[in-house]
This record gives sequence, C-alpha cells and structure tokens, in this order.
Amino acid sequence: MLDNRLENGSEDPEDVLILAIESSCDETAAAVVKNGRGVLSNVIYSQIALHTVYGGVVPEIASRKHIEKINQVIEQALAEAGKTLKDMTAIAVTYGPGLVGALLVGVSAAKAISFATGIPLVGVHHIEGHISANFIENKDLEPPFICLVVSGGHSHLVVVKDYGEYEIIGRTRDDAAGEAFDKVARAIGLGYPGGPKIDKEARKGDPESIHFPRAKVAGAEYDFSFSGLKSAVLNYLNSCGMKGEEINTADVAASFQKAVVDVLVEHSVQAAKEYGFDKLVIAGGVASNSLLRETFEKECKNNKIRLYYPSPALCTDNAAMIGTAGYYEYIKGIRHGLDLNAAPNLKLGGGEGR
Ligand code: KG4
Ligand code: ZN
Repeated sequence: MLDNRLENGSEDPEDVLILAIESSCDETAAAVVKNGRGVLSNVIYSQIALHTVYGGVVPEIASRKHIEKINQVIEQALAEAGKTLKDMTAIAVTYGPGLVGALLVGVSAAKAISFATGIPLVGVHHIEGHISANFIENKDLEPPFICLVVSGGHSHLVVVKDYGEYEIIGRTRDDAAGEAFDKVARAIGLGYPGGPKIDKEARKGDPESIHFPRAKVAGAEYDFSFSGLKSAVLNYLNSCGMKGEEINTADVAASFQKAVVDVLVEHSVQAAKEYGFDKLVIAGGVASNSLLRETFEKECKNNKIRLYYPSPALCTDNAAMIGTAGYYEYIKGIRHGLDLNAAPNLKLGGGEGR
C-alpha cells in the first residue's frame, strides 16, 4: 500500500488516509480525510426531499435509500479525492448512535471493504464525529475544551479532555434541541426539517413578543429540558385557535428560537466558566442556527472565551467529521473486527445506553 502511494508520487508514506462512511440517519455520506484535518473529498447524498412529504425521517425509507446510494457515494468520494481503495490507510464508519437499519448499511459496507482489502476498520461514535468537525477548519484547536453538541438526536454538554476522551456534564432529559425545532416547525406549518425553516422565519418576527419558559432541571444545572417549551408553544397555538386569534408564525418562531438559544448559551458559558475553560466549541446540526451563533459570539466575547464552530455544511451530518474522529482513534491504535455491529444507543466513550 505504501509503495503504491510512493509510485503515485503524491503522498508521503507517513500520510494517514481515511475513507470515512456515515449513514446514521438520513444522509448517505463518504469522505476521504488526510492526516485528520485535511478533507480531500466530502460527498453527501441528502435524503431530505424524500422524507419531507412525511414530515420527518421514515427509518425504513432511509435504510432502503442508503442501500441504493452507498456504493455510488463511496466511489464518488474516492474519485473526487483522486484516490483508490489501495491508497487508504483505514476505513472509519459511524456505528452508533442512530437508526439501526440506517447504521447497518454503512457498517456493512465498511466491513465488506475491510474484508476484501485487508484495510483496518475503525468504528466511530457519531457524536465524536460532530465534535471533531471543529478540527477541520480550526487547525489550531486542540483539547481540552468544552463542547455543546446540539443535533436532532442529542443535546449534550461535554468536557473534551483529550482526543477521544469525554465527560458528559449535561444532557437533555427529554427532547433534543433539534427535535424541538422540528416538532415546533411542524406545529406552525413550516414543515421538515424544522431547524433551518424556523431560523429563516424567525428573522421576520419579534423574539420578545411571546414569553415561552426557559426550563431548569432541579439538581442538575447543566441538563436541558425542551418538552415543556414545546408544550407551551402547542398550548399557545391552541389558545389562539380557541379565541379565534390569528397566529403570527414569525413571532412564534422567533420567540421559541430565543427560548432555546437562551438556555443553550447560558448553560454552556456557565459551564465553561465553572470548569475554567477558555475555549468553547459548538457542534451538531443546531450549531448552524444563526441566533445561536450570534448569541454565543456576544457572550463568549463578554466572558473572554474563544468560540469555535464549523461552517454549516460541517455542522449537519457528513462523513468528513467521521474521518477526522476516525483518524484520532486510528493513531491511538483503535481497531475494530468484522464483528463490529450497529449500536443504535451507543454511549459516548463506549457501551450501550443513553
Ligand atoms: O446533526 P444533524 O444533521 O443530525 C443528527 O445527528 O441529528 O442535525 C439535524 C438537526 C435537525 O433537527 C435540524 O432541524 C437541526 O439539526 N438544524 C437546525 C438548523 N439547521 C439544522 N436547527 C436550528 N437552526 C438551524 N439553522
Ligand atoms: Zn448528527
């Protein structure tokens, strides 16, 4: 393998090239990542249009589409990087958490390639991928730091002690932040995916027009709870309906968004200060929210904290972030066997459970 790369003349024999595969939800994605932070290709086939008519991701449809697309996406990622499988040092694949049928497609593809070529396999935690997305564009970013991971399935406050070493200090008790965005968007008729649609609609509204609750979890100051907020929005919509009052969608979107952002920013900045971190990182699909970024910018500046976030395309699901996380696992010596299985409830740091 190394000789082949030398013949090509384009690679250093020490280079670590990772073929990364991601299929945990509704994006079929593959990427080639060089030495952890160099993205040679990042191909994403988004299934959003397919699921929009149902108002959310339909797991069975997602799995079937992944099967249809996975080989094509992998081939495209290699071609765009100007590489072949022979050039790859390792294959990194998301094996959890996520939809079991969707995960299985990526895991099976990665195992098949590993079996056929002998290229080592590295299983990656999806959230570790989201956190690692920040290393791609912020070349100076190194652990330790504090990270807020906010996606459709997760809302975690994580102390990143080192590469691959995490301590979760806060988590949601019910809905994830992205899930709340998606549910509220559906309730006000904006459709799926709710996050970007609420983000856009909120720009036309007044965030102070309706007061929605900011939940605190007793005895767990960094935990989140968004189901009460979601219910408050639904109650507001119902009571307007009963009184025959017209609903101002933009005001609801802006007020709801502000309530989510206030809590996310307050908890994160508080945790950074209490744990003594001067670096705060945000990750996951919701990290592309414009109000969240603006508010973090302001609060981090006021508190002399350096803020890092990925560009929007690297916030939502992609395989480049899995390649970066996989690289740091690979150089630590982590390898998985062909018995690697999809782990829908995989915990950060290993094991099953939430
Ligand atoms: O990280 P991601 O692509 O998938 C998961 O791992 O869940 O996150 C998707 C979530 C969805 O809930 C989507 O509504 C939300 O991220 N999202 C946003 C924005 N863009 C995506 N939420 C708020 N504002 C946005 N601009
Ligand atoms: Zn994700």
